[in-house]
Amino acid sequence: MQSHPGSQVAVSEEKRRRPSWLILSLGFGGLLTCIVVAAVGTLAALDRVRSNEVHSRKMFLERLSALDQIRAQIYLSGTYVRDFLLSPDPLTAQAQAAHLGPLERDTHNAIEAYRRNLEPEEREPFLALRKEIEAYWQVLDTTVGWTQQDRDRLRFSFFYNELVPRRTAMLQIADRIALVNERGLTRSEGQSASAAGNLRRYLMLTFAGTLGGGLILALVTIAFTLRLERELELRRSDLQELSTLLLRAQENERRALARELHDEIGQSLSAILMETEGAECAERRADLSSHLDSIKGLAEKTVNQVRDLALLLRPSMLDDLGLAPALNWHARETSKRTGLNVVVSADDAIDDLPDEHRTCIYRLVQEAVNNAVRHANARTVDVSVRKEGHKVNVTVRDNGAGFDTRFLRGLGLLGMEERVRRLGGRLKITSEPGRGTLVHAALPLSDLEKRNGHEADSYLVG
Ligand SMILES: Nc1ncnc2c1ncn2[C@@H]1O[C@H](COP(=O)(O)OP(=O)(O)OP(=O)(O)O)[C@@H](O)[C@H]1O
Ligand SMILES: [Mg+2]
Repeated sequence: MQSHPGSQVAVSEEKRRRPSWLILSLGFGGLLTCIVVAAVGTLAALDRVRSNEVHSRKMFLERLSALDQIRAQIYLSGTYVRDFLLSPDPLTAQAQAAHLGPLERDTHNAIEAYRRNLEPEEREPFLALRKEIEAYWQVLDTTVGWTQQDRDRLRFSFFYNELVPRRTAMLQIADRIALVNERGLTRSEGQSASAAGNLRRYLMLTFAGTLGGGLILALVTIAFTLRLERELELRRSDLQELSTLLLRAQENERRALARELHDEIGQSLSAILMETEGAECAERRADLSSHLDSIKGLAEKTVNQVRDLALLLRPSMLDDLGLAPALNWHARETSKRTGLNVVVSADDAIDDLPDEHRTCIYRLVQEAVNNAVRHANARTVDVSVRKEGHKVNVTVRDNGAGFDTRFLRGLGLLGMEERVRRLGGRLKITSEPGRGTLVHAALPLSDLEKRNGHEADSYLVG
């Protein structure tokens, strides 16, 4: 079974619009989030690279300065010891020896400062240097305790056999450490360069991702906009078609009304007029009574014609008696006129519906039944109107010829669709040649309508 393509436009459009809106919002939101995350990530990585660089340079300089201090203190201590050993005057010798205590402390402090920033590769030469320095100061401590005679006796051998070799060894170790320290700086510079390379790669990846995402989003947005434009264009041409059809229908209706007034009512009134003139001229009582009978018959016919015309335009019983009686009347009239068996089954609850809903349902049933009469060649038409929960279900089913809903579309079907759409409802027409036709409309009710029935009319209509 096929459904009328236009009959579900309102529903499918609603279904489609929400996900598109959601997809676009998610897409743009995601893209913006990506850009923000990438920017924050890049700044953080830049900060890390910079602070690593600053830190390793600072450590390098601190270690370099501690080594320089140690070297200077070793040289200075050698000078003081030499002056102490060579000094002929005990007092001057003591004064030179007194310099060594603070110098030894300074050396230990410098060693300690170096230890705090020690790199793993420097550990081995550093421990050797510390051992040498401690041994050196122990030797110096013993030396400053020498008497004048010891100094005179041992100074040259001490100078050349102890002081100079130890100092040379210490300075060599210090040079080794300085070399390792420099290598450390070079290594950390290499690490910074590789971190900068990683950052560059990360930036390029992020840029490519954002560009790709932006491109996809732009394509989706363009496709979405184009689809909307196409739909708008389709709607516009539908509207134009509808208004042309409406104008034509209005003109046809006026023509039919004029014909009805002229051919039927006008003819009857003319006939009454002629009969009246005939009655005026009648000489015999029998002629007069025949004219009067004829006038009465014509007047009754005219009254019926006027009533039929009025009922066709707007059945007054829809306002006076309610929807169910109006539908039953229409069914009876159609059955009488055409011989078609029209069966109406309607809830009493439907009479509480708002005016707009009642008019819509009446017109819809009227059009569907008229179609069944005009096009279906059906034997029976079943009409059902039921209030179910928060909606009203209207169905009109005939067992006639059916039709291909893909190709046929007239003002009647368009009108039904428009009426149902205006109330936020859904119209579905199911038919195929030889299998009859089912028209189904589901009209939603607002909470107020569900609770108050008629009271809601003014709210909706006004
Ligand atoms: N119940 C039906 N059985 C068979 N064919 C139908 C039925 N209802 C509609 N059709 C087909 O669909 C076409 C369109 O129907 P629609 O009511 O829109 O226009 P119409 O009845 O031809 O003209 P109008 O209603 O404007 O006077 C009809 O011409 C007819 O061919
Ligand atoms: Mg029709």
